[in-house]
Amino acid sequence: MADIQLIGVVGCGLMGSGIAQVAAQSGYEVIVREVNQELLDAGMKRIKAVLDKDVAKGKINQEDYHATISRLHPTIELEPMADADIIIEVIVEQIAAKRELFAALDRICKPQTIFATNTSSLPVTEVAAATKRPDRVAGLHFFNPVPVMKLVELVRALSTSQETLFTLQQFGERLGKTVVQAQDTPGFIVNRLLVPYLLDAIRCFGEGLASREDIDNGMKLGASHPMGPLTLSDFIGLDTLYYVANVLFDEYKESRFAPPPLLRRMVLAGMLGKKAGKGFYDYPQA
Ligand code: 3HC
Repeated sequence: MADIQLIGVVGCGLMGSGIAQVAAQSGYEVIVREVNQELLDAGMKRIKAVLDKDVAKGKINQEDYHATISRLHPTIELEPMADADIIIEVIVEQIAAKRELFAALDRICKPQTIFATNTSSLPVTEVAAATKRPDRVAGLHFFNPVPVMKLVELVRALSTSQETLFTLQQFGERLGKTVVQAQDTPGFIVNRLLVPYLLDAIRCFGEGLASREDIDNGMKLGASHPMGPLTLSDFIGLDTLYYVANVLFDEYKESRFAPPPLLRRMVLAGMLGKKAGKGFYDYPQA
């Protein structure tokens, strides 16, 4: 098996910072790249805030804190990625941007470097095809909040080799995650099942079946879900949910993936959920 020591994380937003943190806490050296200093600083600040809380709660000690921070190497350049063993891409969900990034990484990285995309909706096979190493590209789909969620989906593009899958499986497990493998089909496992459920909850609410609180409590207390579906939709972001639903609908053409009119109107109104301060619920602190 390949000896994995140096990890690259390209993109340090909500998901990228979580992945970088978990990798550093698992003992890897991690190069973290953002496109400008401001975004990079914001990402590093987010990681430190989560680690600070962990220290305050006694989950980690000061020594762990400093060791984790010392393993994170922030940069706004792509070149430091050249020697990485695995690079995880966590940039915007746009196929052109991802293909451009992977083509650039392909030119500068050593031949053995494995590329993984955290995409939740785009074809991993199309991203892999932008490189001259499509056998060494796969999907590695994390869940928000990354430090808490125990799952990672390992997605096999049509071109992904068995060796690449094996290395990424071991890597995911070393991060403390349970790794499930899926073929490169829209939504993989989790979003394919989760998104129709969330859309159905929005339909139920829109049709006046019950109040938002009762719908959420129904699933929280009746099915032991940590969050009800409307709260979870707000948490994911209604724009993200709308976008992923459209991708699924475009590919499968099945009505269960069709975003309900209420969701579209909430997105048009800027009611994007928790991050916007308003969605199905109000979030005064956001
Ligand atoms: N970063 C790090 N740790 C966090 C965190 C974050 N952003 N948010 C919460 N936590 C930690 C808390 O510190 C706390 O740790 P502790 O138990 O050691 O004190 C623990 O998680 C529980 O947090 P809280 O007590 O504040 O709140 P909850 O018990 O309500 O848990 C939750 C919050 C973990 C978010 C829980 O509600 C949950 O699991 N919700 C469902 C999340 C989910 O389904 N995510 C997947 C979304 S789909 C997705 O990401 C795919 C994409 O493609 C759309």
